[in-house]
Amino acid sequence: MLAMRSDFQLLDGKLVARKLRDAFASRIDRLRELGIVPGLAVILVGDDPASRVYVRNKERAFQKLGLVSDVYHLDSNASQERILELIEELNENQKYHGILVQLPLPSHLNEFEIIERISPDKDADGIHPCNIGLMATGQDCPLPCTPHGILKILEHYELEVEGRHVVIVGRSNIVGKPLALLLMQKRSPGNATVTICHSKTKNLKEITLSADILVVAIGRPEYIDESYVKNGAVVIDVGTNRVEDSSVQSGYRLVGDVKFPSVKEKVRAITPVPGGVGPMTITMLIYNTIYLAEKTAALPK
Ligand code: GUN
Repeated sequence: MLAMRSDFQLLDGKLVARKLRDAFASRIDRLRELGIVPGLAVILVGDDPASRVYVRNKERAFQKLGLVSDVYHLDSNASQERILELIEELNENQKYHGILVQLPLPSHLNEFEIIERISPDKDADGIHPCNIGLMATGQDCPLPCTPHGILKILEHYELEVEGRHVVIVGRSNIVGKPLALLLMQKRSPGNATVTICHSKTKNLKEITLSADILVVAIGRPEYIDESYVKNGAVVIDVGTNRVEDSSVQSGYRLVGDVKFPSVKEKVRAITPVPGGVGPMTITMLIYNTIYLAEKTAALPK
């Protein structure tokens, strides 16, 4: 039983997010004294229900801190050219210090070309190829929000990373790959030995069972059960999956990629879904927007 295990930690992303957001206040005030209000432009293409929820949550979080957040909602059949034009307008618009294109995009669009068109100086998601290159070489740049949020959780709970075997299940450009680069970097938190697994990995279970820290970002509800997890491991669940649940009013509930009820009995620490990584992603988006506004104003960090 959980109550018997004094060494168990629930990794509360809401708490870490609140702590970080409290610390933003003085930076926002300093910018306001210069007449600058950090601003984000979000481009949402189409009507994917999960994306709409994410975008609404981002808007609310920005508004709560008195920051600018405008959503440019385009039709699901919007053309590549229309989106590239909009990005160019937003690149020039001084109201915005950050631009985010909500992913995934409809399949007729070229995601790489769209992201590449965002000015690297306004890349609120930290996923422009220039910024990925800067991050990979350890330079100062906006960092991808979910990986950055995971680093902040590990830091807050003082979970040792150096020398540990981190296994990341998932190789996406916005989570798996950048997280691997950050955790192997020669600074704290970092210096980990990192393995990336994906859908073509053989012997997945054998590898995840050797993880001191297991990060799962595959978008498959409750795929990782206790048989994939070593006793005493730290588990970070990036998944946010809607599963039908007729017992609740909305008709669905959110679950992670990890089977929380059984895995939590085995591990030293785990992030819940919701309330784990999710709140951190939005918080690091706010962080990046403030960071980019400070850079425009040439303010020290
Ligand atoms: N879709 C789900 N998560 C994210 C994110 O962090 N950034 C963007 N742009 N799209 C997402």
